[in-house]
Amino acid sequence: MNAQEFIQKYYIDRYNTDSRKYDQTYNTYHDKEILPLSIADMDFKTCDKITENLAKIAKRGIFGYTYLPSDYEDAFINWHKRHHGITYQKEWLSFTNGAVTAIFDLLNCFTKEDDEILILTPVYHQFKNAILTSKRRVVESPLINDNGYFTIDYENVKDKLARHHIKAFILCNPHNPVGRVFTKEELSKLFDLLISHDVLIISDEVHSDLIMKGFKHQPALGIDPGYNDHIITITALSKTLNLAVFAHTQVVIAAKELKERFDAYNQIHHLGMPLVFNAYASYFGFKYADEWLDDLIEVIEDNYRIAQKILDKYALEYTVLEGTYLIFINLEKVLNGMDIKEFMLKKWKVLPSFGEAFDKNYQNWVRLNLATSDKTVKEVFDRLDAILKG
Ligand SMILES: Cc1ncc(COP(=O)(O)O)c(C=O)c1O
Repeated sequence: MNAQEFIQKYYIDRYNTDSRKYDQTYNTYHDKEILPLSIADMDFKTCDKITENLAKIAKRGIFGYTYLPSDYEDAFINWHKRHHGITYQKEWLSFTNGAVTAIFDLLNCFTKEDDEILILTPVYHQFKNAILTSKRRVVESPLINDNGYFTIDYENVKDKLARHHIKAFILCNPHNPVGRVFTKEELSKLFDLLISHDVLIISDEVHSDLIMKGFKHQPALGIDPGYNDHIITITALSKTLNLAVFAHTQVVIAAKELKERFDAYNQIHHLGMPLVFNAYASYFGFKYADEWLDDLIEVIEDNYRIAQKILDKYALEYTVLEGTYLIFINLEKVLNGMDIKEFMLKKWKVLPSFGEAFDKNYQNWVRLNLATSDKTVKEVFDRLDAILKG
C-alpha cells in the first residue's frame, strides 16, 4: 500500500469519539479551526487485522477469566527479533498497564523516598512527574542541541554522577520530544558511566518501532550482556499501532535478581497481571501488523518533508526525525515578543504540546504530532507560511 492508500484506508476524523486530543481541545477552546497536533497518538485506525480479530473475540461474548494465548510470548519475542534483531527470553517478561505506570512501579520498587533520579532534558514530561509524585528527586542533564540535532552531554552526566548519589536513570529511546534514535556507541558510552556508579537504567522504548528509514533502534538489553544486570526495558505497541487505550505494556528484565524483586513487588501490590482483552490487541499486532507499520512510516516521512519545506523556507530550527512521529520546533525567531500560547492558539491556530512541559528552557519550542493525514499537515504548515510571508 502506498502512503496515499494508507491514509485513504486508515485516516479517521476523531471528533465525537471522546478523543482527548480532538474533543477535549474543542471542549476547551470551542474553536474547530484550532487543529490539535498535541497528544502522542495517531489519527489512524489501527491495523484492520487487529480490529477484525478483536471484534471476533468481542462477538464470542465470553469475558470470563482467561489466560494469554499460549504463543503470546513467542509473538512478542518474534516481533522484537524481526524489528530490532534482539532475542528476548520468555522468563524476562513482566507486565504493567501503561508505560508511565511501569515507571511509577519501577521507581517504587527499586528506589526509595528522596533518592535522586537522572533524566536527559528536554524529555517526556511524565518522567519528571513520576519522580516527583513518588517523592524522589530529579537530577537533570541537559542534552546538547546543535541546530535541532540533540546529543548526550557526557561531561555533564559525569559531573551529575560525581555530585549526586544517582540511584536510577530513565532513558527515553527513541527520544520524545527530540526524535533521536540513540546509537549503540552513544548508549555504550552512557551506560559505562552509569553502571560505574551503580545506577539502575530504566529504558523507556515505547517509540522503538517508529524508526525512519536509514536508522536502527538499539534495544538497551541488546548492547552487551555485561550491561544487562543493570537494565530494565519498558516496551509496548501503544505508540506503534495506536493502541494507547489498552495500555498493555511489557517490562523486560534480564537480571534474575531484579526480576525476582519486581515480581515480588507486583505480588504484594497485586499488580503485574495483564488485562487479557487488552493484551489481545498487542498479540494480533505482533503477529499481523508488520506491513501496516511499514506503510505508516512512509506517511510519517512524507509529513515530515511537508513540514521541512516551510520550516527551511524561514530557516527555523527543528529536530532531525530519526524516530517517533514528533517534530520539535523552535519558534523564538517568529514570536516577536508575542506569548507563545497566544501565537499558537490565536495566530497559527494549532494546539501543540508546549516545549515548557519537557523542560523550562524550551519555552519557545513546540512539539507537533505528524501522525495524521498529509492534508492536515499541509494545512498546518500552509498557515504558518501565510503568517510568516505576511
Ligand atoms: C516516552 C513515553 N513513555 C510513555 C508514554 C505514555 O505511555 P502510556 O500511555 O503507556 O503510559 C509516552 C506517551 O507519549 C511516551 O512518549
